[in-house]
Amino acid sequence: MALPFFETPKEIDNRYRADAEIILYSGDAKGFIATIPDKTVSLVVTSPPYNLGKEYENRVSIGRYLDMQAQTLAELYRILRPDGSLCWQVGNFVEDGEVYPLDTLYYPIFKKLNFYLRNRIVWYFGHGLHASKRFSGRYETLLWFTKSSQYTFNLDDVRVPAKYPGKRHFKGPRKGELSGNPLGKNPSDVWEFLTEEWETALWDIPNVKSNHPEKTEHPCQYPIALIERCVLALTNEGDWVFDPYMGVGTSLLAGLMHQRRVMGSEKEAAYVAIARERIESFFRGTLKYRPLGKPVYVPTGREKVSQMPEEWKAAAQNRLLEQEESYE
Ligand SMILES: C[S@@+](CC[C@H](N)C(=O)[O-])C[C@H]1O[C@@H](n2cnc3c(N)ncnc32)[C@H](O)[C@@H]1O
Repeated sequence: MALPFFETPKEIDNRYRADAEIILYSGDAKGFIATIPDKTVSLVVTSPPYNLGKEYENRVSIGRYLDMQAQTLAELYRILRPDGSLCWQVGNFVEDGEVYPLDTLYYPIFKKLNFYLRNRIVWYFGHGLHASKRFSGRYETLLWFTKSSQYTFNLDDVRVPAKYPGKRHFKGPRKGELSGNPLGKNPSDVWEFLTEEWETALWDIPNVKSNHPEKTEHPCQYPIALIERCVLALTNEGDWVFDPYMGVGTSLLAGLMHQRRVMGSEKEAAYVAIARERIESFFRGTLKYRPLGKPVYVPTGREKVSQMPEEWKAAAQNRLLEQEESYE
């Protein structure tokens, strides 16, 4: 998709430079953060390693993991501007079948550092692995903190269409006047991005890794649109957006799409290479991207995959009859 506001590709630096526009640092996040001056960054947004033993991480005890992250967070606090924000997107740490919600474990660390929580956003994605000994997990959270009480929040830039734009006040002095906002409504703290197509291709279309336009080989990539909303609401054009654990550069793409300066660090050189390629394809106008605001796909019921397979029809019918009998 060609994006008109970037006519000329920008130079990509590989270390911090105050007048750079894009920085891709290949290496450890802490080493890179140490090179960034105090009060530089407007938005830190990331999905940190979850200590799950993914191919890019060495699993340690949960206590050790949090201690290490606390050190990095203190450094992130240092480089944030006073009006800046930090968005920390996490799911669960699971050990021996027991679930530890990482946001609750992180929260005391943020409080100790004097961060202020503004929202605990639920990111609902609709699809994923099916659990057999607990309910299947279908959301993760994004903690939005600010460094002070004077912070950037551009609500009008992220409003979404209202369900009933024609609604009017039905009593009081404004009776008969439209009650909503012409720019739309506040998107709330429950965000639905991704769903269906990110996952379905795994079983729907053989030999296609995924039919979501953005998916790369990274195992834990998040969608660009999730971060676009943070970028638009919490920063202004020309501000620095930083992802310390950038993976394949999703946060950086969200920033570039809205004329922010972007930097990221990533320890796996292969992911840095993919991030670079995605940024270059963005400038070429060929980046595969699912736009912010595109409605989430709802099956029509006509797709083969949303119909009851022949093999299960008899069992499903019997179950229905049993249920009907038990109501009688
Ligand atoms: C959950 S993934 C982030 C994926 C990213 N949000 C995306 O959409 O591509 C976390 C990333 O952090 C990287 N990582 C882990 N420890 C790191 C460290 N100490 N410094 C830099 N990167 C690190 C991993 O290689 C992994 O790509």
